[in-house]
Amino acid sequence: MNFLVLPSALASGTAAVPGDKSISHRALMLGSIAAGQTDVTGFLAGEDCRATLQALRDMGVEIEAVDATTLRISGVGMHGLQQPEGALELGNSGTAMRLFAGLLSAQSFDTTLTGDDSLSGRPMNRVIKPLSAMGAIIGSDEGTPPLMVQGGKTLVGINYRLPVASAQVKSAILLAGLYAKGETFITEPGITRDHTERMLRSMGVRLDAEDGRIRLPGEQSLRATRVQVPADLSSAAFLMVAALIAPDCELLMQNVGVNPTRNGVIAILRQMGGEIILEDARMLGEEPVADIRVRSSELHGIDVDPALVPLAIDEFPILFIAAAAASGTTRFTGIGELRVKESDRIDAMVRGLRALGMTVEERPDDVAIQGGDFSATTIDSRGDHRIAMSFAIAATRADAAVQIKDVATVDTSFPGFRACLQSLGINITQREGSIS
Ligand code: S3P
Repeated sequence: MNFLVLPSALASGTAAVPGDKSISHRALMLGSIAAGQTDVTGFLAGEDCRATLQALRDMGVEIEAVDATTLRISGVGMHGLQQPEGALELGNSGTAMRLFAGLLSAQSFDTTLTGDDSLSGRPMNRVIKPLSAMGAIIGSDEGTPPLMVQGGKTLVGINYRLPVASAQVKSAILLAGLYAKGETFITEPGITRDHTERMLRSMGVRLDAEDGRIRLPGEQSLRATRVQVPADLSSAAFLMVAALIAPDCELLMQNVGVNPTRNGVIAILRQMGGEIILEDARMLGEEPVADIRVRSSELHGIDVDPALVPLAIDEFPILFIAAAAASGTTRFTGIGELRVKESDRIDAMVRGLRALGMTVEERPDDVAIQGGDFSATTIDSRGDHRIAMSFAIAATRADAAVQIKDVATVDTSFPGFRACLQSLGINITQREGSIS
């Protein structure tokens, strides 16, 4: 499936942004092992979270879809998951695979975790290593999926310093640590999203987190709660940039998560001159949210602070588009982690931007983008949802039609993306088949 985008600009209005992917995965997993009924509102029914949902149903958890974004999870308690009949198919989702590796290491039964071609190439040693140190036994294909997780192991707490700043790895260790004997300590080299810690606390778990160091006493249990999922800032980011680079546009997005461990994109775009206003900042359950108002702005190049990288880890593809639409040069340093996301996002973005006529310098961990005008071309999204959406936004500024190949995975994080853009005046259509 492909997108065809004709030059067009985002119109003023209000956009409904779908639920947060990270929080939706966690609501499903933690709600399933809690005692009692967890009601989830604002759930993201995208492909990734559906894979997690199906995996939990395959392990005997009753999850009722009350409506498209509301779930009722009948938690089975810490030891109530049952062995699935076959492998758990996790599609494109690195979050599902890594968090399940932690959770399932502590169960009494064996499981196999598989994924699509993209997920099958992603590094899993980053979870296998600490989980093995806790006593887990996980087989893999030289550190990549499928993962064969053995059950019936007694886990023990560890004291672990993460070699890379990764919320997925941190969360996998925390999930295993809930079942472990003794305490688990984690030290983070940089701040990463803390949704797991927030949700665990709301479910009655004792856990201390301060200055990048977490202490989790083991053998704890969770009590059911209500989880209200905010709109996903990572999805809102595409619309934020579309509004900033359009003429005379004012866009409002309501109820968007602005957790300080996730808000690097707002800081970076503001430093580039973007007018982004957070209105009615408040708490939605455990998570800070705000209504985000964005106005067209003259963006200019900056040197992006490497300390902001983990706080904006999923937003670099669309930040590259903002940089290409800005005056001057924007330098991104210390972003090598982007090479092991759903695709090598540095390579995919650099090639796409060059095809659009941009001057881009690329090093293993750094990219410099000189702002300029976009010319028509065909872009290969590599089946990566965030690459496809980023170039759809860039295409609105091109001098003629841009085709973007292989866009079906947009549904993993932003179902309704195309309809949302169309409703705001973007000329985007979808075509079946492949473009050579
Ligand atoms: C996520 C953490 C990030 C992010 C991913 C979702 C999560 O990955 O890129 O899309 O839900 O924990 P890392 O923690 O591996 O950086």
